Amino acid sequence: MKHIVLIGFMGTGKSTIAKNLSHMLQMEVLEMDEEIACREGMSIPEIFRVHGEAYFREKETELLVEIENKEQMILSCGGGTPLRECNVIEMKKNGIVIWLTAEAKTIWKRIKDDKNRPLLKGNMNIEYIQNMIEQRHEKYQNASDLIVKTDGREVSEICEEIIDKLKGEVTHV
Ligand code: S3P
Repeated sequence: MKHIVLIGFMGTGKSTIAKNLSHMLQMEVLEMDEEIACREGMSIPEIFRVHGEAYFREKETELLVEIENKEQMILSCGGGTPLRECNVIEMKKNGIVIWLTAEAKTIWKRIKDDKNRPLLKGNMNIEYIQNMIEQRHEKYQNASDLIVKTDGREVSEICEEIIDKLKGEVTHV
């Protein structure tokens, strides 16, 4: 059975959409950042500070390998999870990958006051976010099976679009 894998830049709504899909489809959610932070006993910024980004990326890969044979679930990835080729291979092995998108301005509005994103520390502005999105665009594109826009839309509407697009792909739909 395939997992529903949500990818996309920070602030594209992966966690919110995952929670709502979980209610609508009665499926478990695995929030990757939350799981890694819990296992490490540290927040994401602390993990980056103490161990570095490469260590965090290793933890993401380990988690993906681990869930490969687990019962079908909704997986909310970190924004950088699809940057590693091996992670994309893992996601695709056993999941249908949905790329949530949003404009840089929308993202900035959603996350500007959030201190939990180490990669945007000191650079929380639209231009920087836009540049990062452009750098990552191809990786997200190559990883995704479906693309869903989130700008100016209600969570329920986004979830309905996803469920509609998933018909026939996963058992719970
Ligand atoms: C990251 C996104 C974050 C978190 C970490 C790195 C990224 O997840 O995994 O700060 O590289 O884009 P969210 O997308 O849930 O904020």
